[in-house]
Amino acid sequence: MVRKITEISTEDQLMSYASDEYHKQALYKKIWNILGFLIPTVGSCLYLFTIGIFRKRYRELIYSIWTLVHPQIFTKKYVPQVEITSLVPNEVLLRLYEQAKITANINFEELFVLVELLQINQPTACFEIGTFDGRTTLNMAANTPDDAVIYTLDLPREQVENTKFSLDPFERFAIMKETSGTRYRGTKWERKIQQLYGDSATFDFTSYQGKIDFVFIDGSHTYEYVLSDSRNAITLLRDGKGAILWHDYPDTSSVLRAINYLQASDSRFAGIRHIVGTRFAYLICE
Ligand SMILES: C[S@@+](CC[C@H](N)C(=O)[O-])C[C@H]1O[C@@H](n2cnc3c(N)ncnc32)[C@H](O)[C@@H]1O
Repeated sequence: MVRKITEISTEDQLMSYASDEYHKQALYKKIWNILGFLIPTVGSCLYLFTIGIFRKRYRELIYSIWTLVHPQIFTKKYVPQVEITSLVPNEVLLRLYEQAKITANINFEELFVLVELLQINQPTACFEIGTFDGRTTLNMAANTPDDAVIYTLDLPREQVENTKFSLDPFERFAIMKETSGTRYRGTKWERKIQQLYGDSATFDFTSYQGKIDFVFIDGSHTYEYVLSDSRNAITLLRDGKGAILWHDYPDTSSVLRAINYLQASDSRFAGIRHIVGTRFAYLICE
């Protein structure tokens, strides 16, 4: 069959028109899809950065966005420092037990500082988050008044997959031990210690609130856990007075971010100080 040139060109024109139409439709669909994401996102941002500023959880979100966009602004900032010599007198009597450190324990110098702080504070009730092998628990019991109680909370290994916030995989070693507190068990200080079990983010702290003088936070080190543990710690203090000690500041970045954030954004934590030469952050509430 011989087609006339005019016939062919009309068909080509029709095909090219159909193809143009198709591309146009595809483009409209793309723009529509983008707008479908963009409009609610812009709306949410407008809300977040205006009305949202007045809500605590949104302020935290804004802070998290900032730390993603400009991490250097926050990660280079530290809370003010304090020398241990300005916290404790020249002469302190200490009892040090189980001095040998294993992975996940605080180091020897930190153990020394911890018991110094206990000796000068003389707390009658302490709360520790994160028992592990009980080395810090034992030393807390040995350096507090005879009638003091040490509550120590640990995550049972059976609960490792069932926590409110995600855990850092590096923390699994300390969680997966068979028994919590092996180093204080069977010692003469055990009578002062009450072992508690649970996830610190869902644990019911009600019966300890307003009854504690010294809190030591060394449980999960993720950002969410440090925030949650710190806010719970404040509610534990007797008449709002006492001391809170955090481990792994400033070397663990999630702890650094959480403590920096609390110190900068919440007046209850404004007095947090980093103890020079240690990985401790310390807050005295008076
Ligand atoms: C670094 S170790 C504590 C070490 C201890 N302070 C010492 O120096 O001997 C952390 C402990 O926190 C516990 N832990 C981790 N996540 C927790 C959570 N969500 N709630 C309660 N305890 C948790 C772990 O099971 C582990 O025993």
